[in-house]
Amino acid sequence: MKIIACYSNKGGVGKTATAVNLAYALAAKGQRTLLCDLDPQGASSFYFRVKPSKKLTETKFFEDVERFTKAIRASDFDGLDILPANMTFRDFDVFLSRMRNSRSRLKKALKAVKGDYDVILLDCPPNISTLSENVFSAADGIIVPVIPTTLSQRTYIQLEQFFQANKLPLKKLHAFFSMTQGVKSLHGQTMEDMRKQHKKRFLKTQIAFTSDIERMGVQRAPVMATAPRSQAAQAYGTLHDELMERL
Ligand SMILES: Nc1ncnc2c1ncn2[C@@H]1O[C@H](COP(=O)(O)OP(=O)(O)OP(=O)(O)O)[C@@H](O)[C@H]1O
Ligand SMILES: [Mg+2]
Repeated sequence: MKIIACYSNKGGVGKTATAVNLAYALAAKGQRTLLCDLDPQGASSFYFRVKPSKKLTETKFFEDVERFTKAIRASDFDGLDILPANMTFRDFDVFLSRMRNSRSRLKKALKAVKGDYDVILLDCPPNISTLSENVFSAADGIIVPVIPTTLSQRTYIQLEQFFQANKLPLKKLHAFFSMTQGVKSLHGQTMEDMRKQHKKRFLKTQIAFTSDIERMGVQRAPVMATAPRSQAAQAYGTLHDELMERL
């Protein structure tokens, strides 16, 4: 079983849009997939029309295997299950910081469903916290959407610095350019600079800014399901293939 995290320390960069479409793509390729929504905003659960489980509190998530597995819901798509988030997930950090082995608790919790899935995808909230450190430790690969602008570039550099300072393997990071807009010369320049500076970290695939992806909020389904021939769906398909090759 592989664990893949969609993560960035920056908000609103396309983590959830990526998690939702990658989860769909993996399941469509026959991988038994669990999308685990770790963000109390519950956006991936919303996209898959899955209601939050009120009984899976932040404590139970890490300590009660039965409650954890009972909270998993089937999606409308074959081979794709969802573990929906709820508002108690906002307290993950307070809870984790009080626990022993506070950085390896997520890995331990996910072991409960190891035999049931080929891939677990994690949709993560935007920060560098104890929960993020759990994600860094549990994940085999961390996919990081980066909007090619100055502030996103700075945030990505902070993430690499955090990895270096904490002796975490940089090779787990698989960044890609998200919400790219060809008309913006700053985007083109930033992408060129970042590809040079972080040569091995960036995937070739980029996901352009498209209204098909924005409309996912209305359709409440992955763009790969609602508009499979769209440029966006094809780009997510290529992202899936490139990531799988790397992992
Ligand atoms: N490639 C894209 N083109 C157009 N809109 C996009 C694209 N990717 C994401 N969006 C839109 O931008 C918004 C933020 O995207 P998303 O929720 O995936 O980001 P996020 O990184 O998960 O945000 P958060 O940090 O709040 O969890 C959403 O409204 C989404 O529909
Ligand atoms: Mg999100």
